[in-house]
Amino acid sequence: MSHSMHDTMNDAASSPHDELLDNANQLVEISLTVNGRAVSGHCEPRKLLVDFLREDLALTGTHAGCEHGLCGACTIHIDGQAARSCTTLAVQVDGSRITTIEGLADKDNRLHPLQQAFHEHHALQCGFCTPGMLMTALDFLDSVPDPDEAQIRDAMSAVICRCTGYQGIVAAVTAVAQQMSNDRRNTR
Ligand code: FES
Ligand code: FES
Repeated sequence: MSHSMHDTMNDAASSPHDELLDNANQLVEISLTVNGRAVSGHCEPRKLLVDFLREDLALTGTHAGCEHGLCGACTIHIDGQAARSCTTLAVQVDGSRITTIEGLADKDNRLHPLQQAFHEHHALQCGFCTPGMLMTALDFLDSVPDPDEAQIRDAMSAVICRCTGYQGIVAAVTAVAQQMSNDRRNTR
């Protein structure tokens, strides 16, 4: 039997390559906790977490900068640890606990002490890096309770700021570290 043009096109339509493309386009259900709220949604397996947060959940406080894991603007917390949301697929965090910049203020909308310190120490100008800076600083202070200036500078170099020269950022993180240290001493 001759292999007609029609057959050839049908063969091509069901090739392994097309099956892969079909799978890549199929929506997957994911459920996670974001800023203390259970959410679920559907997304393509290739969707980046930063895009899922911004486009599907309207949490636009997380910024997309380089989208290559370099600038840190997209930093969020996954199960309590700072992570780049531009190098994480949304499907990878199914079942995880996510905190974004929108989750830092308390339920009465009072700023987190780190946010307040950034405000007081002029630690931002355009603000593009600020969500990533704050999420990075929060994780850092959780894991290094009494940091010196060199440790703070090293930690905050994980996020690129093109505006401030970092002086205000270091001052803000130093102030909160000292405040946390005093609070710990007073509760002993
Ligand atoms: S946008 Fe993720 S590291 Fe730059
Ligand atoms: S405040 Fe503009 S990039 Fe940091």
